[in-house]
Amino acid sequence: MNIRLTHIALTIALAASAAHVPVHAATTGGSAPAFDHDQVVHGEHLYADSCAKCHGEKLEGITAPALSGPAFAPAANSHLTIGGIYQYMSTNMPADRPGKMTDQEYADLMAFLLYTNGYDAGNAKLSADTAQSSTTPLNAGPRH
Ligand code: HEC
Repeated sequence: MNIRLTHIALTIALAASAAHVPVHAATTGGSAPAFDHDQVVHGEHLYADSCAKCHGEKLEGITAPALSGPAFAPAANSHLTIGGIYQYMSTNMPADRPGKMTDQEYADLMAFLLYTNGYDAGNAKLSADTAQSSTTPLNAGPRH
């Protein structure tokens, strides 16, 4: 009984925080988690090897949806969060090998996706945990 109540309370708390975060970040790029330049370079290689055949060399979309531009990261009010994308990608992608890459590879791919959607690389490395727990909406970053 105690366990159930705790679970319900936690669910409510999570729902409440999830409802609040996007409101603050929705109009701009928001505070996307930091990632570094090496991750972008590595993510780009992984993308070319494992993703481009379906999503396009320039992330423009072929047999799979585009992973850049307004359809993926709109200027504002994205319905996708960075954590949501990370979780979806690390569970379902690459579609011909779902979930088969390492946490670090998925984190580096996320860094590459953030970079190509307008976010700048910094000095801190993006971890899988940080990517997965980000509730920041995936709006286009400041460079777009
Ligand atoms: C064999 C083809 C294929 C490969 C390879 C592939 N994907 Fe996908 N991907 C898809 C399809 C198809 C969808 C759309 C699924 C749906 O809408 O049900 C998708 C959806 C996605 C989405 C969600 C897009 C959105 O707008 O919600 C992301 C993110 C993604 N893929 C990332 C990747 C990454 C990163 C890789 C490489 C590691 C990859 N995919 C490799 C076919 C592929």
